[in-house]
Amino acid sequence: MYSVALIERQNVARARFHNMKNIIISIQGGRPLAGRVAVSGAKNAALPELAAVCLSPGPLAFSNLPLVEDIKVMVAALREIGAEGELDGPLGEGRVEARTDGLQGHTIRVAMPALRSPRVSRQTTQTTRASILLLGPLLARCGEARVSMPGGCPIGERKIDFHLQGLELMGAEIRSEEDYLTARCRRLRGIEYEFPGKSVTGTENLLMAAALAEGTTVLRNCALEPEVDDLAALLRKMGAAISSPEAGTFIIHGRTSLHGADHAIIPDRIEAGTYLIAGCLAGNDIIVEGVEPAHLGCLLDILAGMGADVRIGAGEFQARGGATLAPAAVVTEPYPGFPTDLQAQLTTLLTQAEGVSRVRETIFNDRFRHVGELNRLGADIEVRGDEALIRGRARLHGAVIKTTDLRASAALVLGGLVATGETRIENSYQLFRGYENMPEKLQKLGAAITITQE
Ligand code: EPZ
Repeated sequence: MYSVALIERQNVARARFHNMKNIIISIQGGRPLAGRVAVSGAKNAALPELAAVCLSPGPLAFSNLPLVEDIKVMVAALREIGAEGELDGPLGEGRVEARTDGLQGHTIRVAMPALRSPRVSRQTTQTTRASILLLGPLLARCGEARVSMPGGCPIGERKIDFHLQGLELMGAEIRSEEDYLTARCRRLRGIEYEFPGKSVTGTENLLMAAALAEGTTVLRNCALEPEVDDLAALLRKMGAAISSPEAGTFIIHGRTSLHGADHAIIPDRIEAGTYLIAGCLAGNDIIVEGVEPAHLGCLLDILAGMGADVRIGAGEFQARGGATLAPAAVVTEPYPGFPTDLQAQLTTLLTQAEGVSRVRETIFNDRFRHVGELNRLGADIEVRGDEALIRGRARLHGAVIKTTDLRASAALVLGGLVATGETRIENSYQLFRGYENMPEKLQKLGAAITITQE
């Protein structure tokens, strides 16, 4: 089954932190950042694409895989179901792609010749959305699935009714029993379905289910995120018949089987935006490389409007701090609007603008948990309903703070970079769910950042 190398590497990777829960990140703020930082592959593309492994005997070979906790959880879930594979370790082991920053991309070769079981345990997937992404592919492959109710960041209601509605219309019988969803169907059949609202993983789940369904499926009002398009590109490489006559619509002619493929995962636009904001905050002169500027149009427009010193090159951004920043009024929206996953990080930048900014969060109903912690650093932010008022420019100072979710963690790290003195961020394991080697990447840029465990 799973190669020993894979298990050992996973254990090595995980052994770095024997208990992921009590990680503390300490930052001595005020250090100027300079140099190059390379962006890893997109976690939110890799998650559905690893789930697609269930759709065929394979093998699938991915490059530019981000080795973050959420990906390790998905790999462990695939192992439970019966996947075999080889995960190249970091730095110099196995088939890796050398990258200019000295950090290596990762590749994984994984196959599912036969399913051992269509059941994924809760302890495997409780922390991420990984489990819900397995529902469609497992139903499509073997007509049965048992996955835990999805976990993921506590950022508000994480409904899955579109996923379930679409799969039931395709013929699945789905029941929720305690913490699990169990689903059965003889064979999924094609449907016409218009999403009541934009859902990234909802679109991805039904795309994968439709790839092996009987007949034709038409999905409308689909999410437009680049990660959805990257999944569709992978499925086409696997032999799926998917067309998109207009943005937001997919037409899928179901196949009886799919085959393996090689795929390079797209760059992580949220990681790229996070380092771009870090450069605007504390950059002497940083280059964020390996990016796709077209994926960050909205952020670039906002930064330009603020007067931030950002230059766009071929596949890279250049950012300098020190500019006098104007305030902004921002609303999070589905792609191509301003991404909710950069809302917390931008809020940190807006504490340094000269004036009052407004940030309205329209995607999730509890995604301002970073505000209280930023205020402990000396920010002046007030939340009124779905809107945050940010009064700048605030002089940030070090403090002991605590993070609650993945993107809030990044926002607090950015705050620590500009706060005078030491900032200690507790519960920081969240950061490692979605950012590959962030402390190391920031250290290479000159940040005084260390990780400890208590
Ligand atoms: C994906 O989450 C991303 N996660 C999130 O990134 C991202 O914030 C979100 O899309 C943006 O929309 C992954 O791709 C793994 P949604 P997802 O379904 O798919 C409502 C990060 O930090 N909705 O697009 O779970 C839902 O409640 C993470 O990397 C329904 O009502 O989000 C939410 O308000 C955080 N019914 C809105 O739609 C459904 O069936 C967007 O949800 C599904 C969603």
